[in-house]
Amino acid sequence: MSQLLASIRNLSVRYRTRDDVSYAVDQVSLDIQRGSVYALVGESGSGKTTVGMSLMNLLPDEADILGGEVWFGDKDVLTLNDNELREIRGRRATMIFQDPVAGLNPVIEIGDQVAEVLTTHLDMDKRAGKIAAIEILTQVGLPDPQRVAKSYPFQLSGGMCQRVMIGIATALRPELIIADEPTASLDVTVQAQILHQLDTLRREQGTAILLITHDFGVVSQIADEVGVMYAGHLVETGSVREVLASPVHPYTHGLLAALPRLDAARQDLYALPGNPPDMNEPSRHCAFIPRCRKAMQQCRDVGPPQLTSIPGQSGRSVACYNPVWQE
Ligand SMILES: Nc1ncnc2c1ncn2[C@@H]1O[C@H](COP(=O)(O)OP(=O)(O)OP(=O)(O)O)[C@@H](O)[C@H]1O
Ligand SMILES: [Mg+2]
Repeated sequence: MSQLLASIRNLSVRYRTRDDVSYAVDQVSLDIQRGSVYALVGESGSGKTTVGMSLMNLLPDEADILGGEVWFGDKDVLTLNDNELREIRGRRATMIFQDPVAGLNPVIEIGDQVAEVLTTHLDMDKRAGKIAAIEILTQVGLPDPQRVAKSYPFQLSGGMCQRVMIGIATALRPELIIADEPTASLDVTVQAQILHQLDTLRREQGTAILLITHDFGVVSQIADEVGVMYAGHLVETGSVREVLASPVHPYTHGLLAALPRLDAARQDLYALPGNPPDMNEPSRHCAFIPRCRKAMQQCRDVGPPQLTSIPGQSGRSVACYNPVWQE
């Protein structure tokens, strides 16, 4: 029996910039079950990081939440104060940030940063924290962990910083890890190690993972469910196996058809022709129309399609007036 850990309901987020606005996330709903991996995929700018950050109420000041709820257990994190949020952040949920260098403190040695997180959140004194920090740096495959521990973030490569972040996020054994492109700057061997480490946590500790990625290779390796995002909307959801085998949204279909081989090690999404739309006003029609080979007059006459269950296919949904059934 699956058990719900976190749930986003009808989340809409808009960013304010100096002279414009961006409707980054529109009416997104998704459920994350304990011990499962939910992959959020989509092109750059589709709103994945915004959704991930909202789970820990980490959105920056320029983000306005226009509506929705974000439940973690029995708490709506969007309504919690800082003290209540501290109970969740770091303890029950951690995030591996897309920009690993920005996720670390530039003026503190790596070993001290890792140790500090451990002593703050776990029952550990300073000395034990320092020893455990070296162990963690070793576990994430960093060569010469003693030297890394004595380094500052700017002395390490982006990939090395990312491994430090992964070490910190997993060491706390949270109930949920939000992993934002956790392997994007790593080579294939290290990527496999990190995915294995995440998968072990999930199996042994029951950790749930929201995996944000544009790499279908990664999705097929460890995710259970997938949500495909386009221009701030979730356009298709379902089990990874079924969505990869028979995608029904023309966007998902196009992305997967553009991949030469599904089982190849790394597969980027960016092969689809055309570009996503500007998001400086809420979409009045389906945002995918300009790139869609299945668009009909009806799509242009009505509002954006809602994500709805696919008849006869349990657990799958699509937001489209003219889905691809069989071709
Ligand atoms: N701090 C911000 N201020 C203004 N606009 C922002 C900010 N963060 C994100 N946006 C805008 O919101 C939209 C969604 O951004 P988001 O970072 O969530 O996308 P993403 O799917 O994670 O993209 P990527 O794959 O490039 O990481 C984009 O149009 C982006 O430009
Ligand atoms: Mg992002």
